[in-house]
Amino acid sequence: MDKFVVKGGAPLRGEIATSGAKNSALPALAATLLTDQKVVLRRIPRVRDVRTMQRLLVDIGAKAEVDGECVQIQVAGVRSPEAPYELVKTMRASSLVLGPLVARARRARVSLPGGCAIGARPINLHLAGLEQLGAKIEQAHGYIEATAPQGLRGAAVRFERITVTGTEDLMMAAVLAQGETIIDNAAREPEVVDLAALLAKMGAKIEGAGTPTIRIRGVEHLGGADHTIIADRIEAGTFLVAGAITAGELNVTGCVPEHVAALVTKLQAAGAEVAEVAGSTLRIRADGGLRSADVSTAEYPGFATDLQAQYMALMTQAEGIAIITETIFENRFMHAQELARMGANIRLEGNQAIVAGRKELTGAGVIASDLRASASLVLAALVAHGETVIDRVYHIDRGYEKIEKKLAAVGAQIQRVE
Ligand code: EPZ
Repeated sequence: MDKFVVKGGAPLRGEIATSGAKNSALPALAATLLTDQKVVLRRIPRVRDVRTMQRLLVDIGAKAEVDGECVQIQVAGVRSPEAPYELVKTMRASSLVLGPLVARARRARVSLPGGCAIGARPINLHLAGLEQLGAKIEQAHGYIEATAPQGLRGAAVRFERITVTGTEDLMMAAVLAQGETIIDNAAREPEVVDLAALLAKMGAKIEGAGTPTIRIRGVEHLGGADHTIIADRIEAGTFLVAGAITAGELNVTGCVPEHVAALVTKLQAAGAEVAEVAGSTLRIRADGGLRSADVSTAEYPGFATDLQAQYMALMTQAEGIAIITETIFENRFMHAQELARMGANIRLEGNQAIVAGRKELTGAGVIASDLRASASLVLAALVAHGETVIDRVYHIDRGYEKIEKKLAAVGAQIQRVE
């Protein structure tokens, strides 16, 4: 298992580029199941989860050609509408093939994802939505069997709680349903808007993506498309925090400033200087005199739960007390214990973490538990005195493309050890 060895203390300086969004690439790849035509997807990040999704699509019946960040997928026919446990257990976002498979092949057999480090993460809302579109859902032996022999019918669906992939799953089921579907209390994340843009290029009739109410009129079939996905706002946010925590000066390029507005507001409140330079570059500058600022995670456009762990690492270096409230997942503070091993002063109380700074961190041996927690440990290691060894970095490889190379190029002393 690969490890990162990081020597802390170097301020990061220079330019660091943002890759395409993993959480846009995954639904976009799933959407290729909706047509028998070729779909070209550009700016696809070369991360583990994307490779897993590509493998799943090929098992289902897709032909895939990968050329760097450009992926061409054609599902001329669905050979096996299945997402097996072996794949789903490594990537729960495999449930994104559920909606498209029922829409295209009128049946799907998808393994239940099972829990994960940050919470139970059921898919009950995905299933309830599909049932309202006329799918018959059965559950046995750890698998979901969904069938719609007469095809799906449009309906008015309201999510009792906002779900990102639930919204995406339902959008992909509804675009081929007979009649109109209204999705209420829909997720507003930029990745949902990006999926709607791809589906529209394929011929779908969608209005309202990015608002709480999405209206879809079903069509007979969809065609191919050529689509470039959006920048990864969580990677961009992670780099902004890297610039702040090392008291450096970083230009984060190729990002969408609006998509990280909630984080930028908090970084400015903490005393970092953040400025938009041209349309797709954010420059962050900090001098080490940060002050604590509370944050509560929320669905977009609120503060992203996927940036909570990174922000916690930053608050260990800020003067004062920061209260971090996690409202999306029930167990997303795993990184706190590891940060404490590096010397951080963090107290957990229910869904709140109380971070007392500024506390000098010292390098230690730590273990990554999930994708964003591992990013938080890298950030802490960049400012810790001495050497930190981070184990199980396969977690970080799921969602960050060559993060150690990108950070080393701006001055971080980080290397991957096989
Ligand atoms: C997406 O996960 C992202 N993944 C997550 O990013 C992100 O943390 C999350 O949205 C929240 O922003 C992808 O887009 C591939 P949810 P998703 O459904 O869709 C509960 C990363 O690091 N819920 O919006 O699975 C759920 O348990 C990953 O890239 C149900 O109860 O999240 C959670 O508490 C981590 N029943 C809340 O809703 C359901 O059927 C929000 O989950 C679905 C969700």
